[in-house]
Amino acid sequence: MSELKLSDPKLFRTASYVNGVWLSEADQYFEVANPADQSEVAKVAYHGAKAAEAAVKAAQDALPQWRAKTAQERSVLLRRWRDLLMEHQEDLARILTAEQGKPLKESRGEIAYGANYMEWFAEEAKRVYGDTISAPTNDKRVVVIKQAVGVVACITPWNFPSAMLARKLAPALAAGCTAVCKPANETPLSAFALAELAERAGIPKGVINIVCGDTPAIGKVFTKHPDIKKLTFTGSTRVGKMLMEQCASTVKRTSMELGGNAPFIVFEDADLDAAVEGAMASKYRNAGQTCVCANRIFVQSSVLEEFAEKFARAAAGLTVGPGTSDDVDIGPMIHEKALTDVAEKLGEAVEKGAEIILGGDRNELGSCFFNPTIISGVRDDMRLFREEIFGPVAPLISFETEAEVIRMANDTEYGLAAYFYSRDIGRVWRVSEALDYGMVGVNTGAMTNVAAPFGGVKQSGQGREGSKYGLDDYMEMKYLCMGGI
Ligand code: SIN
Repeated sequence: MSELKLSDPKLFRTASYVNGVWLSEADQYFEVANPADQSEVAKVAYHGAKAAEAAVKAAQDALPQWRAKTAQERSVLLRRWRDLLMEHQEDLARILTAEQGKPLKESRGEIAYGANYMEWFAEEAKRVYGDTISAPTNDKRVVVIKQAVGVVACITPWNFPSAMLARKLAPALAAGCTAVCKPANETPLSAFALAELAERAGIPKGVINIVCGDTPAIGKVFTKHPDIKKLTFTGSTRVGKMLMEQCASTVKRTSMELGGNAPFIVFEDADLDAAVEGAMASKYRNAGQTCVCANRIFVQSSVLEEFAEKFARAAAGLTVGPGTSDDVDIGPMIHEKALTDVAEKLGEAVEKGAEIILGGDRNELGSCFFNPTIISGVRDDMRLFREEIFGPVAPLISFETEAEVIRMANDTEYGLAAYFYSRDIGRVWRVSEALDYGMVGVNTGAMTNVAAPFGGVKQSGQGREGSKYGLDDYMEMKYLCMGGI
């Protein structure tokens, strides 16, 4: 077991949290492994349907009191929770890196990113507005109010185990909802630490519940239980579709943040140095394991050689290593299976004629380390073009015209993030409007932040997280018809 030195060891919780109680007793335990060396970080109590049912009951029981608090009261608690996150940023980052692998500097950034959502929604909680609408007759008034959806189920991924939970819980709690959560079994410790801090912030028992262990059994309770009114999920499109099907039996509302296949387009009029910087930021963050990572880099043929050379030089300068070393840029991938999947996609592309111009191999540091890779000559019949890569592999694709690249960029069932670089203002508008994506970065490779609506179209999902629109996903609109006036 690798030792994790924390200033506040009580943040290191290893059990599900239901109705304010840590369920550390279980029939079975599962191991959380450090992706850097596969050492055991923790043994976590393995719970299933029974704990999930108890969590739903706790959330349902806590709902009337939580919903009845004023927006101001909920805001104060959220703000306190945010402050505790930042006070314990270093410990939380260390827990995150131990279970997820990402470099500590990225983990610190992720804690701050999650804390920002708490701050944002602490403020938004006070800005819920209704409407009055002109009535069709003089004896009536038409009024619209917004109310909390009810108990919300949150299912979160291993790539951002802290921020994705914060991004769901903050608006849910701000709106007056209570929650049951299922973090990924690879990375439950960050979620438990958030619950520990929520308790210290004074968020009442039952408002946040976290259950880990038997994923299908917990998922089934969360998707079928009539007391759960909404399910929010971040993860793969495949699992998202399954959850939507399961939610259909109780007609639950859903928000889905699913897979991506982001095009990153470099036009010949672009500032190439800026484009390289953007591609580096977008492609190699979290070892390429984000759903907004540049997945297909399209470069206009006249600047392809120059861009490839500059990009390869920059990527060759990245340091691969365990996330705990301060100079590391690329940590291990989450597990060997993830790495094998990336290597297979790369192998298929090479077999079909693509050419590796940087990396392309595992790093000798361990079974989850893959070197930053650039591959050119990728075509639309290759898996690297069609599928989400989720690893540090950058495929380069040449194009000739604006119309051609727009067609290729949109030739996918995904529609989450897209990026392009151009200094032509007319083109900036044309391409922004033509890309079938929920988010478009123009002359930037890093666009996510709390003030912006995060979300996709097509099979990348539905709903938006963050921004002034984020609360809507957790509120119902109710129409009041006032008669006899
Ligand atoms: C994700 O990959 O799921 C989230 C990325 C982000 O919020 O920037």
